[in-house]
Amino acid sequence: MRVAILISGGGSNMVRLVESMAGDHPARPCLVLANSADAGGLAKAQEMGVPTAHVDHRRFKGGREAFEKELQNVIEEHGSDMICLAGFMRVLTEGFTRLWEGRMLNIHPSLLPKYKGLDTHQRAIDAGDAEAGCTVHEVTARLDDGPILGQARVPILAGDTAETLAARVLEQEHKLYPAVLRRFASGERGRIDWG
Ligand code: GAR
Repeated sequence: MRVAILISGGGSNMVRLVESMAGDHPARPCLVLANSADAGGLAKAQEMGVPTAHVDHRRFKGGREAFEKELQNVIEEHGSDMICLAGFMRVLTEGFTRLWEGRMLNIHPSLLPKYKGLDTHQRAIDAGDAEAGCTVHEVTARLDDGPILGQARVPILAGDTAETLAARVLEQEHKLYPAVLRRFASGERGRIDWG
């Protein structure tokens, strides 16, 4: 199983996924693809010996389909069997998600179905929630939707800010995403629930 990992930023989840795909793991990373040459994760992927590419979404003014066609070309060129979105901050069209349905995972920093979209940690704090967390799910046409494959919960502590909470959730993301990917690539569809 050859895995393309799509990123927009520092790529800390990508690093954990790449590190996990070794030994008897049923998958290997074949590409780290960013939507900007500035994505800090690209250099980290190169250091780990993973092929990298970028397709700058700003080149495709108003043309999400054209941007995704280019993404698809690069992903296919690398012989990818599945996609892991790891902090990829572009909304994908229904056409692209259909192409990869059942073969594309995403990690989202909330306990879905709560807090789809952005500012998840601040929204959880503002709502007075007792806990927050992260979710790995299959990607479908609807944003931050699709079958849930794993969730990890963390308590929200008195005095938490969005930053302190995000850091605690990110620690869990780094464990949960590799665990879910390993199971998914092995053909298991059981759900992981931590915390
Ligand atoms: C992660 O917290 C991930 O859950 C989030 O972006 C961060 C990327 O960090 N993803 C989303 O918000 C997707 N809607 P990373 O680049 O260090 O992995």
